[in-house]
Amino acid sequence: MIGIIGGTHILEIDVLHDVKEKVVETPYGIAEVDLGLIDGIEIVLIQRHGKKQDRPPHRINHAANFYAFKKLGVKYVVGMGSVGCLREEIELPALIVPDDYIDFYSGTTVYNDKLVHVTPGFSENVRKALIIAGKNVPNLIDKGVYFQTRGPRLETKAEIRVIKEWADCVGMTAASEATVAKELKLEYAVVCTMDNYAHGIKDVTIDYEEIRRKAKENADLCLDVVGKAVRVIWDEYINKKY
Ligand code: HPA
Repeated sequence: MIGIIGGTHILEIDVLHDVKEKVVETPYGIAEVDLGLIDGIEIVLIQRHGKKQDRPPHRINHAANFYAFKKLGVKYVVGMGSVGCLREEIELPALIVPDDYIDFYSGTTVYNDKLVHVTPGFSENVRKALIIAGKNVPNLIDKGVYFQTRGPRLETKAEIRVIKEWADCVGMTAASEATVAKELKLEYAVVCTMDNYAHGIKDVTIDYEEIRRKAKENADLCLDVVGKAVRVIWDEYINKKY
C-alpha cells in the first residue's frame, strides 16, 4: 500500500477507485482514511484538513495521520501541497518538489514523552519518484527549501522579506508531515503547486479565496504527477523483481 496525503487540491475530487472509508484509531487520536485504487495499486488517502474541511493547519493531527499510514502497512507517502512562491523570477503556475525545509515554530512531533531527536529531511526515494513522474511538466522545480509558517493566517510582508532570504516557497503543513514521517520511519516527500506569489513578492494583493481557486485550477496537474509517482514507487521500490 502507498499513502497519499493532500489538502485543498483534493477536496471534492474523486482521487481513488473503489473507495472504502475507514476510521483508524491511533495513540494520538483518530484518523479518517480512504482506501482505494489508483492504476490498480492499493492506496491509503488522507485529507489533511479533514473530510469536512474543518481542520486549519495549526490543528491538523499530523501524528495521528502518519501513525494511521504506518498501522495500515504503508511505507511510502506522497504529499500534495499548496504554497506561496518566494521567487519573483519563477513564472506561475509551477510545481516544486522541495529537498529541504525550515520549521522553527510548529514543534510537531510524535515524541512528547520520550527523548528522541531524529535527523529530519524529505525522502530522496519519494522525491526521485515525483521528479521522474513530472519529467514532462515544463514548470517543475526539482529542489528548493520549503518554509513552514504556523498559519492559519498568511504572512506579513515583513515576514516574507525575511523568509525569502532562506527559502523558495512557503506553506503551512509539509515540514510537520516530513518530521513525523521521519519519526515513524516512513518515507515522505511532497509536490507543491505554487499558487500565488507570497505577500509582497509582487505588487498584488493576495487573499485566501484566490489562492484556493488557483490551487483547484492546478490540482489536475499535481494529481497527474502524484498518480504517476505512485506507479514509479510501486514498480521501483515495492514490486521490484530481481
Ligand atoms: N503562504 C502560506 N501558505 C500558502 C501560501 C502562502 O502564500 N499559498 C498557499 N499556501
